[in-house]
Amino acid sequence: MSLDLSLEAPSSAPDRPADLRAPVVAIVGATGAVGVELLNCLEARNFPVASLKLLASPRSAGQKMRFRGQDLVIEALGPDSFQGVDIALFSAGSGVSKQYAPVAVQAGAVVVDNSSAFRMRADVPLVVPEVNAESMVSHAGIIANPNCVAAIATVALAPLHRAHPIRRLTAATYQAASGAGAAAMEELRQSTAAYLRGEGFEPKVLPHPYAFNLFSHNAEMDEESGYNGEEQKVVAETRRILGTPDLPVGITCIRVPVLRAHAMALHVEFGEVVTPEEARALLAGAPGLKLVDDRARNHFPMPSEASGQDDVLVGRIRRDLGDPSGRTLALFVAGDQLLKGAALNAVQIAERLLRRA
Ligand code: A2P
Repeated sequence: MSLDLSLEAPSSAPDRPADLRAPVVAIVGATGAVGVELLNCLEARNFPVASLKLLASPRSAGQKMRFRGQDLVIEALGPDSFQGVDIALFSAGSGVSKQYAPVAVQAGAVVVDNSSAFRMRADVPLVVPEVNAESMVSHAGIIANPNCVAAIATVALAPLHRAHPIRRLTAATYQAASGAGAAAMEELRQSTAAYLRGEGFEPKVLPHPYAFNLFSHNAEMDEESGYNGEEQKVVAETRRILGTPDLPVGITCIRVPVLRAHAMALHVEFGEVVTPEEARALLAGAPGLKLVDDRARNHFPMPSEASGQDDVLVGRIRRDLGDPSGRTLALFVAGDQLLKGAALNAVQIAERLLRRA
């Protein structure tokens, strides 16, 4: 079949007609927290793979992971890893993506990259399929998967924004360990167990004690502005995904001792008065969202209920009384960082590639 991806492949890329109806798929970082979920998502969603290649560091080479009842042997990532690969899902950090995504594109693959390496590049679409799938029409071989907070937040913001353009956003996040990888999740488990035994625990992955504590996000701090790298990413990426390059956004990102689902308080200012009832109606039918907004039972989005769910939970929809004009609403949102914040969104992007093949 002929390849119709509307992608402008680099002129030196091999002229190999990939069959994206049953592609050869590679996962880079298969052993990581997101990598494991990429495998699960491909399997759970019956993604039509001709074959699946699992790539990680030399530390994991030779180990096996199960996919559709079969043991697949993990290979060490290297310059020849992408021969014959049609779609490469990258989740091994920015350094690995910067080095190997161009190698994969050169070999003829389309890369869906979970790192921040290419997210702000003009020729790399930054995609949340429920929000801006149309941006995938043109790319040069790489499609970026957004920062987890940006992905989860924009699923909840987009239905409101389409009806009433957002003028300003203020956010506070409550972010899980999974965003810092499998080792951080393990540190949360171990430090909690040590705490409960009354023993000391020296943090190795995160900069501060995690059990029964919370702290400002561990991304690098810009001392001049006072905003850390995570906050800067969320601002820039939310603007890009919503198509609002000048949207004023204030944000505080906090790491909380939760394993895998992020929560966030969003205060959203519109150009006109939007009632909580209208917002609820807009959000109730929106793709990728589930309304959890039961004032009578004080039941609102929680990480424990968002964990393992494809849908982002949204609730606590109310007027922000800090804005007497009535133009600002407050929402509370929770979404699985490893799913909609990472693996699920990447697989949904890959599904869109198949549809267009
Ligand atoms: P490995 O398990 O062999 O170290 P997490 O985000 O959960 O920390 O996972 C990171 C993922 O990226 C793991 O699968 C890890 O593999 C992989 N990885 C880290 N460094 C490299 C590298 N230099 N080459 C290939 N894979 C890497």
